[in-house]
Amino acid sequence: FAIKAAGYEDELVKTAKSIASPGRGILAIDESNATCGLRLSSIGLENNETNRQAYRELLLETPGLGEYISGTILFEETLYQSTTKGKKMVDVCNEQGIIPGIKVDKGLVSLPGSNNESWCQGLDGLHSRTAAYYKQGARFAKWRTVVSVPNGPSELAIKEAAWGLARYAAICQDNGLVPIVEPEVLLDGEHGIERTAEVAEKVWSTVFSYLAENKLLLEGILLKPSMVTPGNGSKVKATPEEIANYTLTMLKRTVPPAVPGIMFLSGGQSEVEATLNLNAMNQSPNPWHVSFSYARALQNSVLKAWKGQPENVEAAQKALLVRAKANSLAQLGKYSA
Ligand code: 13P
Repeated sequence: FAIKAAGYEDELVKTAKSIASPGRGILAIDESNATCGLRLSSIGLENNETNRQAYRELLLETPGLGEYISGTILFEETLYQSTTKGKKMVDVCNEQGIIPGIKVDKGLVSLPGSNNESWCQGLDGLHSRTAAYYKQGARFAKWRTVVSVPNGPSELAIKEAAWGLARYAAICQDNGLVPIVEPEVLLDGEHGIERTAEVAEKVWSTVFSYLAENKLLLEGILLKPSMVTPGNGSKVKATPEEIANYTLTMLKRTVPPAVPGIMFLSGGQSEVEATLNLNAMNQSPNPWHVSFSYARALQNSVLKAWKGQPENVEAAQKALLVRAKANSLAQLGKYSA
């Protein structure tokens, strides 16, 4: 009865379960070189391979990180990189008990025929790329596509986003990688929370219908959605309880309990907001492990503490542990500000 995934079924289920283990979540450090450049320039650093290596090494070598972090999403450069002392970054992850993952999408381009919306590239050559990433030590993958509320979203954009995610996910499972399915509903806009909820419901239900059509093993995927919040330009703010309520209601309508983990993105929320909202989601039992896969909401204060100075590495690592521990508690529903 199990759906075939080239013999990787047991491993996929095991990997997904380990990532979705109690009190742990994902550290996303898979910024493309261009986006990593934005992070580095925020502290006055040049965007070159040496600085990217120093930054990623600082994050991954944080002592004790594996207690709170079960997986980390890397950019291709990092997957094949070593630390300045010559240890493979992949080995650093594994020694910390952190499963290495890889961003495999090739980014967004404009979607002709839509309302200034975009689609996500990267399916060409994905079969051989995922096989090579597995060989290099990656055990899960991520593909991020976006949907914009103020620009529609059009039927075309939703269909394209969902179909791309489903094709990507099937190819990953075929090569032993647990696919993180990431349909990001962007925060931008002045709309209220009800409108976000409507869009999220439509997007998630379309994604799961195409995942079914592509015969995905749902026990071997992870969903990385955005939280249902008001647009960031909305005059009406929402409490963590309201956000949790809208988000969980829509997830329960659209996401089968066979999916082991819901790993939220932070999407531009502040570090504390992202933690409080996650904590609110975990105040009562959920059908899934509800956790985090944050980039900005785990990295902002690290960058500020580091400032690119070797003497600040320890302080920066402490800042990372503070956020990682706070989100770990939020995963367990036990965080208080
Ligand atoms: P943010 O948490 O900064 O939104 O990033 C999420 C992400 O997709 C990175 O993998």
